[in-house]
Amino acid sequence: MTDSLSFVESGSGTPALFIHGFPLDHRMWLDQLEELAEVRHCIAPDLPGFGSSAPLDEFTMDNVADALAAFIGSVPVDVVSLSMGGYVTFALWERHPELVRSLALLDTKATADTPAAREGRVTTAATIAREGVAALVPGMLTSLLAQEATVRAKQRLTRMIEATPNETAIAATMGMANRPDRTHVLSTISVPTMVLVGASDTVTPPAGAVSMAARISDATLSVVPGAGHLPPIETPDLVSESLHGFFTNH
Ligand code: MLT
Repeated sequence: MTDSLSFVESGSGTPALFIHGFPLDHRMWLDQLEELAEVRHCIAPDLPGFGSSAPLDEFTMDNVADALAAFIGSVPVDVVSLSMGGYVTFALWERHPELVRSLALLDTKATADTPAAREGRVTTAATIAREGVAALVPGMLTSLLAQEATVRAKQRLTRMIEATPNETAIAATMGMANRPDRTHVLSTISVPTMVLVGASDTVTPPAGAVSMAARISDATLSVVPGAGHLPPIETPDLVSESLHGFFTNH
């Protein structure tokens, strides 16, 4: 690993790289870092522009994947990613497959945005530019979390959104809007893969996870009850348990 990105780590042994979603940072994985330290060297970076990591000139999924490849160095890692982290992971797999030992794909999809979703991103970017990223908090508490989310999960999500620099939130929003479709990549995945999705995820719903898992040759699928789009902070124990089982099997 190089120190080109800020990160936190736990444990020792085979490295596992945890790639966060939007507009979050490494802190979304803190429970998993604690619970999986006995089976992996867990490393959770802040993506470029998030947390204390320096921004890129242009936030594209390819550029972020290349930054992660430089961060990883030469020892292949078990990749665990959520949502936008998954969009980056498909680019990482396409561009640097030799760095990937296995994949855990949480609440993500390989498809590009629809034209309507892209338009929605443009509106979101304009809102952030006008009012700041904190303006996203009320909507995201509803859209990203299941109804039964705990106060702790809500507070953690709020803190991460509010800590995201406005310029980064805008750059990542447009980076996601412009990402290519990578559905064709799914059938090329040749490493053990775990697909996991919250049963109440409305951003990347379970039906999409089912069809994604079906296109990957060596994939298992878990649907987590009581979680929406962010199972690692909504139902942390269930996520850590699934990852623990996955890691000890390969
Ligand atoms: C995320 O959790 O990373 C975002 O919801 C992804 C997206 O907006 O497509």
